This record gives sequence, structure tokens and C-alpha cells, in this order.
Amino acid sequence: MVDLLGQYQKIKPEIDAALQAVIESTSFINGPAVKAFQENLAKYLQVKHVIACGNGTDALQLALMALDMKPGDEVITTSFTFIATAEVIALLKLTPVLVDVLPDTYNIDPEAIEKAITPKTKAIIPVHLFGQAADMQRLKAIAEKYQLFLIEDTAQALGADVYFPDNGKTKKVGTIGDIGCTSFFPSKNLGAFGDGGAIFTDNDVLGSKLQILANHGMKVRYYHDYVGINSRLDSMQAAILNVKLKYLDEYASARQKAAEFYNKAFAGCPQIITPVTARFTSHVFHQYTLVLKEADREGLMKHLAENGIASAVYYPVPLHLQKAYRDTRYNEGDFPVTEFLSKSVLSLPIHTELTDAMQQEIADAVLYFINNY
Ligand SMILES: Cc1ncc(COP(=O)(O)O)c(C=O)c1O
Repeated sequence: MVDLLGQYQKIKPEIDAALQAVIESTSFINGPAVKAFQENLAKYLQVKHVIACGNGTDALQLALMALDMKPGDEVITTSFTFIATAEVIALLKLTPVLVDVLPDTYNIDPEAIEKAITPKTKAIIPVHLFGQAADMQRLKAIAEKYQLFLIEDTAQALGADVYFPDNGKTKKVGTIGDIGCTSFFPSKNLGAFGDGGAIFTDNDVLGSKLQILANHGMKVRYYHDYVGINSRLDSMQAAILNVKLKYLDEYASARQKAAEFYNKAFAGCPQIITPVTARFTSHVFHQYTLVLKEADREGLMKHLAENGIASAVYYPVPLHLQKAYRDTRYNEGDFPVTEFLSKSVLSLPIHTELTDAMQQEIADAVLYFINNY
């Protein structure tokens, strides 16, 4: 689905030099490379505080920890996401409240959020799925109306822009709510060579608390003000990310160009719905995800695999139907859009190293199967 080796080879001298510098500094934890990366990412995002941490899941957990919620408080999120979003809610003994997504963008449905709010609701976690933003203008209005925290899960959309037609402003995803969280998992748009994550906020109090929580709850060494966790981005990963951050917009353009190619290739095929980008966001195509109508998805995946082409289903089982999250509150049929998507989506390879010839081969293989079986 990705070509991490090809991407590395293009910037090998820069990456190798950055790694060598960390090794020779022996400053492996919370060293200057981490500080520099945090500063550069804050500048790129135009946000006051960036706190690097161990991974995207920890980023979400830390965000919830910083907001002083009590067991039983409800957090609303989407039923169509990677499990990490709901996992951290459950781990902290908060109650995940799931809602359905919109059929065109697969992002959380603002109307469904409003219907799910109760006196126990404390926060909303929208996920900017596959590379485009959820409807942040409406979500921000809902959060303000009901006085809820807004935590953005931007693991899949780092670098995407959100346009606010009311004031003509543009903001990066993750900088609109109270806290933004991201992942630097290797295949992400900004990927490390291992695990990594970060949290962003414009709020000074939350910024300093998040920094403390991620480092055992201590500000002064061996004095612990909070029950925290150990979640730090190591200096090697920070050095790599610092190099790759310079190319993030270029990477997004390459992904957009690849998406355009696929869109054109599949335009005349009635069994394939290509991705729709909402008018208020750019799309950085972390995934290129089709919806197949009356097509044999498993058969198509097998056909692609036999031709040496990767494909993947994100996500085959909605959150409310996952074994670990089965709950008497939810039944099959409760979230029809999510359930339809989980049965019909298919993601094709999308990355920075795709050539037109590679994409043509992939598109031809998809269309051959659809038209013949
Ligand atoms: C939407 C979403 N949230 C959270 C995560 C968790 O990130 P990580 O794997 O770095 O813990 C991921 C990705 O893996 C993700 O796709």
C-alpha cells in the first residue's frame, strides 16, 4: 500500500546525516532534535504548543487525561474509525458514545452528534478520516453550544486545511478544537521509522499539563504533580520527522495527483464510487478509498493480489460490532452508513512514489475484474 523504501531513498543523505548527529550527541530522550521538531511542527501548523509523544494512541489518551474527566463521563466519537479512538476512552473508564458517519465523506455526522448528547457528555472526538477534515465549523458550534471539549483525531489528515467561509480563514486540521492529536506511524503522511505521535493546542494551561502528563506527571524531576504516563518521542524519530516535515506538502501534492489519476480512471464505472472531498477541506489522501456497488469485494482483492497489487479494507468491522466493544446499547443495524461502508469500501495503494504506469496497471486490474465478474 506504501513505498517507504522509495521515499527514504529520495532523501537518504539528509536522513542519514540527521540520525548520525543524534547518535553522536547521545541525547536520545527529550534531546534538541525533539525540541526542534516540536518547534518546526508548531510553526507549520500555526499552533502555540506541540507536545511530541510515543504514538497517536497515547496522544489521544493524554488529551483525555488533560481534561479531568470522571469515570462514566461520555465521549462521542465515530463508529467508523481505527480502534485507537474508542480504545483510549474505554481505557480511562469513560463511556464511548458512538454515532454514524456521513455517506459521502465517511466522516462523523454532526446531526447524529447533537442527538447523542446527554448531561453526561463531556467531549467529542471527530476523526479526520482518510485525509479530509470532518465538518469542523459545525462541530465547533455544537461544542460551544453544549460546552463540550473538542479533540481532533488527525492521525490520517496531518497537513490538511480547513476553510471557514464565515471569516475567510484557513486553519490546519488539529488546530481548531481544544486539542489535536496525530500519529507518525510509518505509513502516515508524515511517518517516522517507528512509532511516534504528537498533541497540539493553543491553550497554555493544557499545553503545559500535556507536557507534564506525557513525562510521568513531573515538571521538576522526581516531583510528580499528576499521575502521568511515559510517552516520549525519541530523538532519532524526531530527527527523521524534522527532515520529512519539510516535504509534507510535497507528499500531499503527490497523493492528490495520484487520487486525481484514479478518479479519472474510474469515472465511467457505475459500480465504483470515487472519494468525495467536502467543500470546507482539502484532502491529503492518507487513503484512497472506493465504495464498490454490487461488486464482489473479496473477489476483487484476490484478483488484485494475484496480479501483485495490494489493497486493503479500512475498516471491515464497525466499532459497535467489535467483540471487545459489544455493548447492550448497540445492535447490528444501528449505524447503517457505517455498516454499509464496512461491507463495501476498498482502499487502493496511494503514496508518494506511485508512477502513472503503476496506477494505470492498478486501475486496469480493478476495471477488468469489475467488468468481467
Ligand atoms: C484515526 C487514527 N487514530 C489513531 C491512530 C493511532 O495511532 P498510533 O498507531 O500511532 O498509535 C491511528 C493510526 O494508527 C489512526 O488511524
